[in-house]
Amino acid sequence: MPLDSLPAWHEFSAAVKAANNRDQGLRMIHAAGLTVDLSTQRNSDAMQAAANSLLQHRDFKQACQQLVQGDPVNWTENRPALHTALRAPQPPAQVADLVLNERARMQAFVEQANTQNRYRNVVHLGIGGSDWGPRMAIHALSGIATRRNIRFAANVDAHAITTALDGLDPRDTLVLVASKSFTTIESLANAQRVIDWMLANSIQQPLEQFVALTANREAAIKFGIDDKHIFEIWDWVGGRYSVWSAIGLPIALGLGWNVFADLLAGAHEMDEHFLSASILENAPIQMALSGVANCSVLGFASMAMCPYDARLTDLVPWLQQLEMESLGKSVLQDGSLLSVPSSPAIWGMPGTDSQHTFFQWLHQDKKGAPVDFVICAEPDHKHAYHHRLLVSNCLGQRSALWRGKSYDEALIESTQPGHTPEQAQWLAKHRVHAGGRPSTLIVLPKLDARRLGALLALYEHKVFTQAIIWGINPFDQWGVEFGKRLANQLEKQLASPEALDHADFDPSTQHWIQQLTRQY
Ligand code: F6P
Repeated sequence: MPLDSLPAWHEFSAAVKAANNRDQGLRMIHAAGLTVDLSTQRNSDAMQAAANSLLQHRDFKQACQQLVQGDPVNWTENRPALHTALRAPQPPAQVADLVLNERARMQAFVEQANTQNRYRNVVHLGIGGSDWGPRMAIHALSGIATRRNIRFAANVDAHAITTALDGLDPRDTLVLVASKSFTTIESLANAQRVIDWMLANSIQQPLEQFVALTANREAAIKFGIDDKHIFEIWDWVGGRYSVWSAIGLPIALGLGWNVFADLLAGAHEMDEHFLSASILENAPIQMALSGVANCSVLGFASMAMCPYDARLTDLVPWLQQLEMESLGKSVLQDGSLLSVPSSPAIWGMPGTDSQHTFFQWLHQDKKGAPVDFVICAEPDHKHAYHHRLLVSNCLGQRSALWRGKSYDEALIESTQPGHTPEQAQWLAKHRVHAGGRPSTLIVLPKLDARRLGALLALYEHKVFTQAIIWGINPFDQWGVEFGKRLANQLEKQLASPEALDHADFDPSTQHWIQQLTRQY
């Protein structure tokens, strides 16, 4: 049912606009070891009451049960979305054997490789959800003694694979071809490059050092990968929700099975919070309500993710795919168009770098954007002064966004010796901060696998809740298929320009096909 046909939606919208967005007290939720501070997001009793009603109209509780018990919540592909099963100690019966057997196979493979001290290097070839999750987790947990040298290549630009292979001993390198479909051209092209590299280094049977992480066993076997080196994922797990599956194998190979197990445990703990906490005390739900309020009511077209931790650099692109590939939709299940703005563009950068890059815009652009801040209480290093600076910058920027700076405050700052009152008044106008700019602060006790797992699951459930409120399907991605198809069509024509069917492409594309094919 369209959102704006619901009285509860209009009550929610009115309550958001009426919320006094400065003078509210502390609003913190403790969930799976994380503290989610929503004190600098709009809130009111009326907003919460309307949200309750809205979620009831959306049969939210039933939707959550359908999600975790494996109903076809991905309704355009008639599939479940059982990423929660991948991290459950006891998955739902219909997938329990599959999940537990594959998890056991992964563990046995890792432990055997460790016992035999094999594969000093691992090259992970995947893209999108087959890359961001493991890449981000290994970067985030890099402080843990890494057992192996894990390299990633995602981009089809040959610089990516060349850099990934640089300096590696091909004899001691395991190659993971991570592709749920096993048809993604970037991953397959990179895999072929690695085969060539191994052959050029006198490796007679390169494919013996290849492992496939895929839902397409047949294609992996056709590619030449041995059946015992295929770890299965399933079509009921979305790519951007798949780090908990065999796609996460490089985490276990690089950091140890226990670290991967802790990642799963942290996510499961957040699952239990999501399914049991009341709406008011539910971190993913409350973050989703703020996300919907900021985007669909207050008109913020984007949201910035600013983790104040250099180890979380890849959290930004991971979240971009999770949020934008899940929520970048505009058609409801009944085929009607979504009638409110949805799915903010996600962007960002770790602090404090982001302060010297775009915080001017966040503070004094006419509109700005909400910000999610993430910080760890325990820095995992011994430089107390650095951590004090990091924390004070994170909290200082967040406070400035929320409290702003009035003209009177700016005038005091601008009244300087040698300046006339008129000059001070003029300068003061340029130093005002509107304030009331919303943010959420997520505090981790420390950046360990368990808390990272909880953080990722927090966002997965926030995205799911926003999709339920908007009435869209967060688990398909028809939009990327079209671009891929045109790209494949174009590639074939680039390979043989004389066969170019000019009618297929606009004049500019035709021009560049001619121009760029001449250069190689
Ligand atoms: O970006 C489109 C997409 O299908 C993602 O959803 C997916 O994570 C990525 O491409 C890679 O797909 P695959 O794992 O099938 O190679």
